[in-house]
Amino acid sequence: MKKNIAVIRGDGIGPQIINEAIKVLKKIAEVFNHEFEYSFACVGGEAIDKFGEPLPQSELKKCLEADSVLLGAVGGNKWNDVPPDKRPEKALLKLRQAMGVYSNNRPAKIWRQLSDSSPLKKEIVDKGIDFIIVRELTGGIYFGEHSTKEQNGQRIATDILTYSEKEIERIGRIAFETAQKRGGKLCSVEKSNVLDSSRLWKKVMHELSKEYCDVELSDMLVDNCAMQIVKDPSQFDVIVTENMFGDILSDEASMITGSIGMIPSSSLGSTKRGLYEPIHGSAPDIAGQNKANPIGTILSAAMMLKYSFNMEKEAEAIEKAVEAVLDENYRTADIFIKENEELKLVSCSEMGSLIANRI
Ligand code: IPM
Ligand code: MG
Repeated sequence: MKKNIAVIRGDGIGPQIINEAIKVLKKIAEVFNHEFEYSFACVGGEAIDKFGEPLPQSELKKCLEADSVLLGAVGGNKWNDVPPDKRPEKALLKLRQAMGVYSNNRPAKIWRQLSDSSPLKKEIVDKGIDFIIVRELTGGIYFGEHSTKEQNGQRIATDILTYSEKEIERIGRIAFETAQKRGGKLCSVEKSNVLDSSRLWKKVMHELSKEYCDVELSDMLVDNCAMQIVKDPSQFDVIVTENMFGDILSDEASMITGSIGMIPSSSLGSTKRGLYEPIHGSAPDIAGQNKANPIGTILSAAMMLKYSFNMEKEAEAIEKAVEAVLDENYRTADIFIKENEELKLVSCSEMGSLIANRI
Protein backbone atom coordinates (compact mmCIF):
# COMPACT_ATOMS: atom_id res chain seq x y z
CA MET A 1 0.00 0.00 0.00
CA LYS A 2 1.22 3.49 -0.78
CA LYS A 3 0.68 6.26 1.77
CA ASN A 4 1.75 9.84 2.08
CA ILE A 5 2.63 10.89 5.61
CA ALA A 6 3.12 14.54 6.53
CA VAL A 7 5.79 14.71 9.21
CA ILE A 8 6.26 17.58 11.63
CA ARG A 9 9.54 17.19 13.42
CA GLY A 10 8.99 20.33 15.48
CA ASP A 11 11.18 21.68 18.25
CA GLY A 12 13.28 20.48 21.17
CA ILE A 13 13.44 16.69 21.20
CA GLY A 14 10.91 16.58 18.32
CA PRO A 15 13.44 15.92 15.50
CA GLN A 16 15.16 13.09 17.44
CA ILE A 17 12.03 11.18 18.38
CA ILE A 18 10.63 11.59 14.86
CA ASN A 19 13.85 10.18 13.36
CA GLU A 20 13.36 7.04 15.42
CA ALA A 21 9.71 6.70 14.45
CA ILE A 22 10.68 7.00 10.78
CA LYS A 23 13.39 4.40 11.27
CA VAL A 24 10.69 2.02 12.53
CA LEU A 25 8.23 2.94 9.75
CA LYS A 26 10.94 2.29 7.14
CA LYS A 27 11.41 -1.17 8.56
CA ILE A 28 7.65 -1.79 8.47
CA ALA A 29 7.52 -0.68 4.82
CA GLU A 30 10.34 -3.08 3.99
CA VAL A 31 8.97 -6.09 5.84
CA PHE A 32 5.31 -5.65 4.88
CA ASN A 33 5.90 -4.33 1.40
CA HIS A 34 4.42 -0.86 1.69
CA GLU A 35 5.52 2.46 0.33
CA PHE A 36 5.52 5.39 2.71
CA GLU A 37 6.26 8.81 1.32
CA TYR A 38 7.14 11.56 3.76
CA SER A 39 6.51 15.23 3.25
CA PHE A 40 8.16 17.26 5.95
CA ALA A 41 6.22 20.26 7.21
CA CYS A 42 7.90 23.05 9.11
CA VAL A 43 5.59 23.96 12.01
CA GLY A 44 6.03 25.47 15.47
CA GLY A 45 9.08 27.35 16.73
CA GLU A 46 11.12 26.28 13.73
CA ALA A 47 8.50 27.89 11.46
CA ILE A 48 8.49 31.09 13.51
CA ASP A 49 12.24 31.37 12.93
CA LYS A 50 11.99 30.58 9.24
CA PHE A 51 8.69 32.13 8.14
CA GLY A 52 7.75 34.46 10.99
CA GLU A 53 4.64 32.42 11.85
CA PRO A 54 4.07 29.04 13.50
CA LEU A 55 1.77 27.45 10.89
CA PRO A 56 2.39 28.87 7.41
CA GLN A 57 -0.28 28.12 4.82
CA SER A 58 2.15 26.11 2.66
CA GLU A 59 2.95 23.80 5.59
CA LEU A 60 -0.68 23.40 6.63
CA LYS A 61 -1.44 22.43 3.03
CA LYS A 62 1.07 19.57 3.22
CA CYS A 63 -0.76 18.25 6.28
CA LEU A 64 -4.23 18.58 4.75
CA GLU A 65 -3.11 16.81 1.57
CA ALA A 66 -1.45 13.87 3.33
CA ASP A 67 -3.05 10.57 4.28
CA SER A 68 -2.08 11.28 7.88
CA VAL A 69 0.15 13.48 10.01
CA LEU A 70 2.85 12.40 12.45
CA LEU A 71 4.09 15.04 14.85
CA GLY A 72 7.01 15.14 17.30
CA ALA A 73 6.54 18.14 19.60
CA VAL A 74 6.45 21.89 19.29
CA GLY A 75 7.47 24.77 21.57
CA GLY A 76 10.35 25.89 23.72
CA ASN A 77 11.57 28.69 25.95
CA LYS A 78 13.03 30.52 22.98
CA TRP A 79 9.54 31.53 21.84
CA ASN A 80 8.07 32.32 25.26
CA ASP A 81 7.86 36.03 24.54
CA VAL A 82 6.29 35.98 21.09
CA PRO A 83 2.68 37.31 20.94
CA PRO A 84 0.06 34.72 22.02
CA ASP A 85 -1.25 34.28 18.49
CA LYS A 86 2.21 33.46 17.15
CA ARG A 87 3.26 30.96 19.79
CA PRO A 88 4.36 27.50 18.60
CA GLU A 89 1.49 25.93 20.59
CA LYS A 90 -0.96 28.00 18.59
CA ALA A 91 0.20 26.12 15.49
CA LEU A 92 -0.78 22.86 17.10
CA LEU A 93 -4.22 24.17 18.01
CA LYS A 94 -4.78 25.60 14.53
CA LEU A 95 -3.63 22.36 12.96
CA ARG A 96 -6.03 20.30 15.11
CA GLN A 97 -8.84 22.66 14.16
CA ALA A 98 -7.99 22.77 10.44
CA MET A 99 -7.78 18.98 10.30
CA GLY A 100 -11.07 18.74 12.20
CA VAL A 101 -9.65 16.18 14.62
CA TYR A 102 -12.02 16.66 17.53
CA SER A 103 -11.43 13.34 19.21
CA ASN A 104 -8.15 12.74 21.02
CA ASN A 105 -7.52 9.25 22.28
CA ARG A 106 -4.91 8.87 25.06
CA PRO A 107 -4.32 5.41 26.47
CA ALA A 108 -3.01 4.98 30.01
CA LYS A 109 -1.74 1.46 30.26
CA ILE A 110 0.92 0.12 32.54
CA TRP A 111 3.59 -1.93 30.84
CA ARG A 112 4.27 -4.88 33.06
CA GLN A 113 8.03 -4.35 32.56
CA LEU A 114 7.73 -0.80 33.90
CA SER A 115 5.59 -1.35 36.97
CA ASP A 116 8.54 -0.36 39.19
CA SER A 117 8.71 3.01 37.44
CA SER A 118 5.19 3.96 38.53
CA PRO A 119 5.16 6.40 41.45
CA LEU A 120 2.12 4.55 42.86
CA LYS A 121 2.33 1.88 45.55
CA LYS A 122 2.79 -1.65 44.28
CA GLU A 123 -0.58 -2.85 45.59
CA ILE A 124 -2.35 -0.15 43.58
CA VAL A 125 -0.37 -0.86 40.41
CA ASP A 126 -0.95 -4.60 40.78
CA LYS A 127 -4.71 -4.08 40.54
CA GLY A 128 -4.05 -3.03 36.92
CA ILE A 129 -3.98 0.24 35.00
CA ASP A 130 -5.57 0.10 31.56
CA PHE A 131 -7.85 2.91 30.55
CA ILE A 132 -8.33 5.45 27.80
CA ILE A 133 -8.99 9.14 28.03
CA VAL A 134 -11.14 10.41 25.18
CA ARG A 135 -10.43 14.13 25.18
CA GLU A 136 -12.50 16.64 23.20
CA LEU A 137 -9.85 18.45 21.19
CA THR A 138 -11.22 21.29 19.12
CA GLY A 139 -13.57 23.12 21.46
CA GLY A 140 -13.87 24.55 24.94
CA ILE A 141 -11.63 27.12 26.55
CA TYR A 142 -8.74 26.43 24.15
CA PHE A 143 -10.80 27.83 21.30
CA GLY A 144 -12.89 30.48 23.07
CA GLU A 145 -12.15 34.17 22.93
CA HIS A 146 -9.00 35.22 24.76
CA SER A 147 -8.28 38.79 25.79
CA THR A 148 -6.29 40.90 28.19
CA LYS A 149 -7.27 44.47 28.91
CA GLU A 150 -6.56 47.20 31.40
CA GLN A 151 -9.34 48.50 33.57
CA ASN A 152 -9.08 50.87 36.53
CA GLY A 153 -5.33 50.53 36.57
CA GLN A 154 -5.24 46.76 36.67
CA ARG A 155 -4.85 44.07 34.03
CA ILE A 156 -7.77 41.75 33.49
CA ALA A 157 -7.49 38.56 31.42
CA THR A 158 -10.42 36.55 30.07
CA ASP A 159 -10.70 33.12 28.43
CA ILE A 160 -14.14 31.98 27.38
CA LEU A 161 -15.31 28.36 27.68
CA THR A 162 -18.13 27.37 25.33
CA TYR A 163 -19.55 24.01 24.27
CA SER A 164 -22.45 23.37 21.92
CA GLU A 165 -24.53 20.24 22.28
CA LYS A 166 -23.36 19.11 18.82
CA GLU A 167 -19.73 19.23 19.93
CA ILE A 168 -20.56 17.26 23.07
CA GLU A 169 -22.66 14.72 21.21
CA ARG A 170 -20.03 13.87 18.59
CA ILE A 171 -17.27 13.28 21.16
CA GLY A 172 -19.78 11.40 23.31
CA ARG A 173 -20.51 9.01 20.46
CA ILE A 174 -16.80 8.29 19.99
CA ALA A 175 -16.46 7.61 23.70
CA PHE A 176 -19.49 5.29 23.88
CA GLU A 177 -18.23 3.39 20.82
CA THR A 178 -14.76 3.13 22.38
CA ALA A 179 -16.32 1.71 25.56
CA GLN A 180 -18.34 -0.78 23.50
CA LYS A 181 -15.11 -2.13 22.02
CA ARG A 182 -13.44 -2.33 25.44
CA GLY A 183 -14.82 -3.08 28.91
CA GLY A 184 -18.22 -1.41 28.39
CA LYS A 185 -17.69 1.25 31.09
CA LEU A 186 -17.70 4.99 30.41
CA CYS A 187 -17.02 7.69 32.98
CA SER A 188 -17.99 11.21 31.94
CA VAL A 189 -15.85 13.76 33.75
CA GLU A 190 -16.94 17.38 34.26
CA LYS A 191 -17.41 20.14 36.82
CA SER A 192 -21.21 20.26 36.79
CA ASN A 193 -21.36 21.58 40.36
CA VAL A 194 -19.94 24.88 39.07
CA LEU A 195 -19.95 25.23 35.27
CA ASP A 196 -22.88 25.56 32.85
CA SER A 197 -20.84 23.98 30.06
CA SER A 198 -20.36 20.96 32.33
CA ARG A 199 -24.05 20.74 33.17
CA LEU A 200 -24.83 20.61 29.45
CA TRP A 201 -22.03 18.06 28.99
CA LYS A 202 -23.55 15.78 31.62
CA LYS A 203 -27.08 16.11 30.20
CA VAL A 204 -26.02 15.29 26.66
CA MET A 205 -24.00 12.26 27.83
CA HIS A 206 -27.08 10.91 29.64
CA GLU A 207 -29.33 11.53 26.65
CA LEU A 208 -26.85 9.66 24.46
CA SER A 209 -26.55 6.77 26.89
CA LYS A 210 -30.12 5.71 25.96
CA GLU A 211 -28.71 4.72 22.55
CA TYR A 212 -25.86 2.71 24.06
CA CYS A 213 -27.59 0.34 26.47
CA ASP A 214 -24.58 -1.99 26.53
CA VAL A 215 -22.38 0.74 28.05
CA GLU A 216 -22.52 1.56 31.74
CA LEU A 217 -22.29 5.34 32.09
CA SER A 218 -21.13 7.06 35.27
CA ASP A 219 -20.33 10.69 36.10
CA MET A 220 -17.45 12.10 38.06
CA LEU A 221 -16.41 15.61 39.00
CA VAL A 222 -13.00 16.46 37.62
CA ASP A 223 -11.38 17.18 40.99
CA ASN A 224 -12.55 13.83 42.31
CA CYS A 225 -11.35 12.16 39.11
CA ALA A 226 -7.85 13.59 39.62
CA MET A 227 -7.89 11.96 43.05
CA GLN A 228 -9.37 8.64 41.91
CA ILE A 229 -6.72 8.27 39.18
CA VAL A 230 -4.04 7.98 41.83
CA LYS A 231 -6.17 6.24 44.45
CA ASP A 232 -7.61 3.43 42.32
CA PRO A 233 -6.94 3.71 38.60
CA SER A 234 -8.19 0.14 38.06
CA GLN A 235 -11.78 1.45 38.30
CA PHE A 236 -11.54 3.19 34.90
CA ASP A 237 -12.15 1.80 31.43
CA VAL A 238 -12.95 4.84 29.26
CA ILE A 239 -13.02 8.45 30.47
CA VAL A 240 -14.60 11.15 28.30
CA THR A 241 -13.97 14.77 29.09
CA GLU A 242 -13.65 18.26 27.68
CA ASN A 243 -10.49 19.75 26.24
CA MET A 244 -8.75 21.32 29.21
CA PHE A 245 -9.74 18.69 31.77
CA GLY A 246 -8.48 16.07 29.31
CA ASP A 247 -5.17 17.88 28.94
CA ILE A 248 -4.59 17.86 32.69
CA LEU A 249 -5.91 14.39 33.50
CA SER A 250 -3.98 12.76 30.64
CA ASP A 251 -0.67 14.02 32.02
CA GLU A 252 -1.59 12.64 35.42
CA ALA A 253 -2.70 9.34 33.90
CA SER A 254 0.52 9.00 31.92
CA MET A 255 2.69 9.53 34.97
CA ILE A 256 1.15 6.68 36.92
CA THR A 257 2.06 4.31 34.10
CA GLY A 258 5.74 5.06 34.60
CA SER A 259 6.66 7.77 32.16
CA ILE A 260 4.95 10.32 29.97
CA GLY A 261 7.55 9.35 27.35
CA MET A 262 5.73 6.06 26.70
CA ILE A 263 2.30 7.42 25.81
CA PRO A 264 1.10 7.85 22.22
CA SER A 265 -2.07 9.54 21.05
CA SER A 266 -4.35 9.63 18.07
CA SER A 267 -6.59 12.51 17.05
CA LEU A 268 -9.36 11.83 14.57
CA GLY A 269 -12.41 13.55 13.17
CA SER A 270 -14.89 12.46 10.58
CA THR A 271 -12.34 11.05 8.11
CA LYS A 272 -9.53 8.49 8.27
CA ARG A 273 -6.93 11.23 8.21
CA GLY A 274 -5.53 11.56 11.71
CA LEU A 275 -2.94 13.46 13.67
CA TYR A 276 -0.64 11.24 15.68
CA GLU A 277 1.67 12.56 18.38
CA PRO A 278 3.18 11.52 21.69
CA ILE A 279 1.44 13.28 24.57
CA HIS A 280 4.63 14.78 25.98
CA GLY A 281 6.07 18.14 24.99
CA SER A 282 9.31 19.25 23.38
CA ALA A 283 11.44 18.86 26.56
CA PRO A 284 13.93 21.63 25.68
CA ASP A 285 16.08 20.69 28.72
CA ILE A 286 17.17 17.45 27.05
CA ALA A 287 16.99 18.53 23.41
CA GLY A 288 19.99 17.58 21.27
CA GLN A 289 21.33 15.15 23.89
CA ASN A 290 20.04 11.93 22.33
CA LYS A 291 18.42 11.06 25.67
CA ALA A 292 14.71 11.28 24.96
CA ASN A 293 12.39 8.29 24.97
CA PRO A 294 11.14 7.75 21.38
CA ILE A 295 8.60 5.06 22.35
CA GLY A 296 5.62 7.46 22.68
CA THR A 297 6.25 8.61 19.10
CA ILE A 298 6.92 5.11 17.78
CA LEU A 299 3.65 3.90 19.32
CA SER A 300 1.89 6.94 17.82
CA ALA A 301 3.14 5.76 14.42
CA ALA A 302 1.69 2.33 15.26
CA MET A 303 -1.66 3.95 16.04
CA MET A 304 -1.51 5.72 12.68
CA LEU A 305 -1.02 2.40 10.88
CA LYS A 306 -3.93 0.86 12.75
CA TYR A 307 -6.51 3.65 12.76
CA SER A 308 -5.76 5.56 9.55
CA PHE A 309 -4.31 2.90 7.25
CA ASN A 310 -6.11 -0.25 8.52
CA MET A 311 -2.71 -1.92 9.00
CA GLU A 312 -3.49 -3.95 12.12
CA LYS A 313 -0.73 -6.51 11.67
CA GLU A 314 1.87 -3.84 11.11
CA ALA A 315 0.79 -1.92 14.21
CA GLU A 316 0.94 -5.10 16.22
CA ALA A 317 4.45 -5.80 14.95
CA ILE A 318 5.60 -2.45 16.36
CA GLU A 319 3.90 -3.04 19.70
CA LYS A 320 5.46 -6.50 19.94
CA ALA A 321 8.90 -5.06 19.13
CA VAL A 322 8.54 -2.48 21.91
CA GLU A 323 7.47 -5.24 24.27
CA ALA A 324 10.51 -7.34 23.29
CA VAL A 325 12.99 -4.51 23.83
CA LEU A 326 11.52 -3.77 27.25
CA ASP A 327 11.65 -7.49 28.09
CA GLU A 328 15.32 -7.42 27.19
CA ASN A 329 15.72 -4.68 29.81
CA TYR A 330 16.69 -1.81 27.53
CA ARG A 331 15.64 1.53 29.00
CA THR A 332 15.96 5.19 28.06
CA ALA A 333 16.84 7.56 30.92
CA ASP A 334 13.23 8.36 31.90
CA ILE A 335 12.43 4.71 32.62
CA PHE A 336 15.87 3.63 33.85
CA ILE A 337 16.26 2.67 37.50
CA LYS A 338 19.88 2.96 38.62
CA GLU A 339 19.55 0.49 41.47
CA ASN A 340 18.37 -2.27 39.14
CA GLU A 341 21.53 -3.84 37.77
CA GLU A 342 19.71 -5.83 35.11
CA LEU A 343 18.65 -2.72 33.24
CA LYS A 344 20.63 -1.32 30.31
CA LEU A 345 20.59 2.41 29.72
CA VAL A 346 20.30 3.33 26.03
CA SER A 347 20.07 6.54 24.03
CA CYS A 348 17.14 7.71 21.96
CA SER A 349 18.66 6.50 18.68
CA GLU A 350 19.74 3.17 20.19
CA MET A 351 16.18 2.59 21.41
CA GLY A 352 14.82 3.33 17.92
CA SER A 353 17.28 0.91 16.30
CA LEU A 354 16.59 -1.82 18.86
CA ILE A 355 12.86 -1.60 18.14
CA ALA A 356 13.31 -1.44 14.34
CA ASN A 357 15.62 -4.48 14.45
CA ARG A 358 12.97 -6.57 16.16
CA ILE A 359 10.39 -6.08 13.42
C1 IPM B 1 -1.02 18.36 24.77
C2 IPM B 1 -0.23 19.62 24.97
C3 IPM B 1 -0.86 20.75 24.18
C4 IPM B 1 -2.27 20.91 24.70
C5 IPM B 1 -0.11 22.06 24.21
C6 IPM B 1 1.31 21.92 23.76
C7 IPM B 1 -0.82 23.15 23.45
O1 IPM B 1 -0.11 19.91 26.32
O2 IPM B 1 -1.14 17.92 23.61
O3 IPM B 1 -1.50 17.82 25.75
O4 IPM B 1 -2.48 21.58 25.73
O5 IPM B 1 -3.19 20.37 24.09
MG1 MG C 1 -0.89 18.39 27.61
